[in-house]
Amino acid sequence: MDIEPGELTVGQLSQRSGVAISALHFYERQGLIVSRRTSGNQRRYKRDTLRRVALVRIAQRVGVPLAEVAAILKLLPDNRTPTRADWERISECWQAELDRRIVHLEQLRDDFKDCVGCGCLSIDRCALANPHDTLATTGAGPRRLVATTGEPCHPGKCA
Ligand code: FES
Repeated sequence: MDIEPGELTVGQLSQRSGVAISALHFYERQGLIVSRRTSGNQRRYKRDTLRRVALVRIAQRVGVPLAEVAAILKLLPDNRTPTRADWERISECWQAELDRRIVHLEQLRDDFKDCVGCGCLSIDRCALANPHDTLATTGAGPRRLVATTGEPCHPGKCA
């Protein structure tokens, strides 16, 4: 088998990562992972691809768009195995965007127990928290939720 030390076949990558081969091919088409081709046109992956796949899977679980993940992963060096410092750098780049997502998740978990100021006036607390939808004068959307700002990570700023 044409395989260098430290390389994985797509089957091995699939088995260890728990990600279907078809999904790995998709990730590759999206630029999330890369492989080299053997003389027989088979894919070979560096072992550190497992870490990239792990990041993609976790990001997908929390709803981060793949394009954003790809932009972040592009900040890693592709000519060597990324070091912990490389990973720290992209984590810092991503922090503001991830913090914003965490706030939204916390809002989903915690804030919908009460009136969110959305204008529906559909629960008993609305009459107190947003009588006659007075919050509409302050703008659109659920006015009682914490405003979250922050632009999505712009990798060009972090490179
Ligand atoms: S929950 Fe919609 S206005 Fe109160």
